[in-house]
Amino acid sequence: MIYVDPPFNTGRAQVRRNLRSHRVDPEDADRRGFKGRGYKSVLESLSRYDDAFEDYWSFLLPRLELARDLMTESGTLYLHLDYREVHYAKVMCDMVFGRDCFLNEIIWAYDYGARAKRRWPAKHDNILVYVKDPKNYHFDSAEVDREPYMAPGLVTPEKAARGKLPTDVWWHTIVSPTGKEKTGYPTQKPMGLLRRMVAASSRPGDWCLDFFAGSGSLGAVAHALERRFVCIDSNDQAIEIMRNRLPHARVIED
Ligand SMILES: C[S@@+](CC[C@H](N)C(=O)[O-])C[C@H]1O[C@@H](n2cnc3c(N)ncnc32)[C@H](O)[C@@H]1O
Repeated sequence: MIYVDPPFNTGRAQVRRNLRSHRVDPEDADRRGFKGRGYKSVLESLSRYDDAFEDYWSFLLPRLELARDLMTESGTLYLHLDYREVHYAKVMCDMVFGRDCFLNEIIWAYDYGARAKRRWPAKHDNILVYVKDPKNYHFDSAEVDREPYMAPGLVTPEKAARGKLPTDVWWHTIVSPTGKEKTGYPTQKPMGLLRRMVAASSRPGDWCLDFFAGSGSLGAVAHALERRFVCIDSNDQAIEIMRNRLPHARVIED
């Protein structure tokens, strides 16, 4: 499985690269997707809506394509975004993977920080879930931690004791500023979220990848659940934090 939590604003501050001049093989003219879809025209339409789109997606799109190619037939991608990017990303991933490969949009709901007064305060992230092959993907709900029923009095005591399977809306606190999980990395994601993804979408011994790894949350969870993992990051501070957090891992410096 692959989990990625990309930097949101990378494209905006970077040198503009033009998707329209992207080189492709002659038989792939118009950027054919995984299943023969051409998507140059969609990219151009989206770019007309949002100038920042072209920069952001010229950064992310080739990485998503590579992620798809690296996945095994039973593999799953979790793409962690927020409400500003998720709609563009859905269109993009439908083209890269195929619409039938869309499995879920998980909403991670939390309740932290200031509350906007002029609109509904945004207190959730969006995680798109795509599989490589909709007929052959691995998903084991029995491995996922269960949640307490909201009204346990309405179910049998056995059911209440067992808890219920999580839905696609996950209420989970952010990494506590005083808790032992905190590494000091500003965008660190809680292990509780990643544990669900890894537990459901991989088996012990499988490979897990995060190529925007930050503090290494994916690696920490994968290790705890006896998966193998690769964590990549371009930031020295992230590498330093991962060195401490994942002392059992081999570090390869570029
Ligand atoms: C939102 S953070 C990921 C946080 C991570 N999920 C965690 O739990 O700590 C995004 C990461 O992407 C990294 N990054 C940005 N551009 C990159 C690139 N071109 N290659 C690799 N990593 C990159 C940043 O250094 C940052 O650590």
